[in-house]
Amino acid sequence: MNRAVGESLDLMAVETPVAVVDLARVRANAHRVVQYARGHGLRWRPHVKTHKSLGIARIQLEAGATGLTVATLHEAEVMSAVSRDLLLAYPPVGRRKLDRLVRLPDEVRLSVALDSPEVLYPLAGAVREAGRSVRVLVELDVGLGRVGVPDPQDAARLAAEVTELDGVEFEGLLFYAGHIRSPGPEQDRDMATLGQTLERVYAALDRRGLRPRVVSGGTTPTLWRSHEVPGLTEIRPGTCIYNDRDAVAQGAATPDDWAYSVLTTVVSTRVPGRAAVDAGSKALAKEARGGSGFGVVLGRPEVTVAALSEEHGVLDLSGTDWRPRVGDRIRIVPNHVCVSVNLQERILVTEGTQIEAWPLEGRGRLHIAVDPTTRDGAG
Ligand SMILES: Cc1ncc(COP(=O)(O)O)c(C=O)c1O
Repeated sequence: MNRAVGESLDLMAVETPVAVVDLARVRANAHRVVQYARGHGLRWRPHVKTHKSLGIARIQLEAGATGLTVATLHEAEVMSAVSRDLLLAYPPVGRRKLDRLVRLPDEVRLSVALDSPEVLYPLAGAVREAGRSVRVLVELDVGLGRVGVPDPQDAARLAAEVTELDGVEFEGLLFYAGHIRSPGPEQDRDMATLGQTLERVYAALDRRGLRPRVVSGGTTPTLWRSHEVPGLTEIRPGTCIYNDRDAVAQGAATPDDWAYSVLTTVVSTRVPGRAAVDAGSKALAKEARGGSGFGVVLGRPEVTVAALSEEHGVLDLSGTDWRPRVGDRIRIVPNHVCVSVNLQERILVTEGTQIEAWPLEGRGRLHIAVDPTTRDGAG
């Protein structure tokens, strides 16, 4: 396991702020997703952007994840040590990135999502030059308006272009329905629209004699409704491994599923009705959700983080009788766990009475093996 060698830690003595991960909950979360996916004939390819940790990726794979999803070349390089089946769910643009992509270990079965000929052709060229092959998923925009082909005919045309090129193989479709975040009736409507959009793309592919082997979707907010999506073969939720305040608000998890929190110390109680802690935006991330604060105190759902500056978090005590004292330690669950994880240098992983520090190998952009003196071109 990826732990700081020989480091044994006392949670009450460690310096704060620091991220704490409950491994039993991580395992339970992974198990639940795998059971659900298997029960519906889906494969789980978790997005590692949530945890960026080789140790957590191993747990996901041991639980039954069938491969991993990455967003950066660095994540791909790091995760190739534990998985031979990687999906780069991000268009690789620029020579540098393509060089890194084709230099991934030969045994890695690599899929790449893209939405344009401008990405497809240089990718195919680089792959051919390197004597490799890559599977291509045509990315669809199903409503988020970020990347992806919005029009079904255009998506089918791009898929047909893939089939005409050497080095790349048309594997199927990918979409990210990140616009569906609210629980309830609104989600019903958006899920129905998503299904109709996909059916139109399948029909357009069919007219060209093409059939997707893989249809990759799935987010944490829609996780437990993935089986309603027609033609879906794999899901990529990442947040579900830790869960966060948003996942609970979206109805995708309960507070019992929270596996990640930031341990912090009360540093001031002088302002009436408030308490300041040493976890600010540089530990929790300043992701506001509808004016309800930036996080919640674990075990005290009535106490939220009302304000954040870089190194201070300000707790709102107006809804509680609890009066923390300077030096008290509490844990805060952030609104959005992935961005909080990315701010940490390590995670303290707890299991029973065991506490260890694990590195976050997937953080950053450059692989450790990249010579820092090499000039990084525009690519
Ligand atoms: C392309 C892609 N796939 C999957 C995910 C995972 O979604 P979630 O964070 O809802 O689990 C993300 C999240 O940003 C994403 O961008």
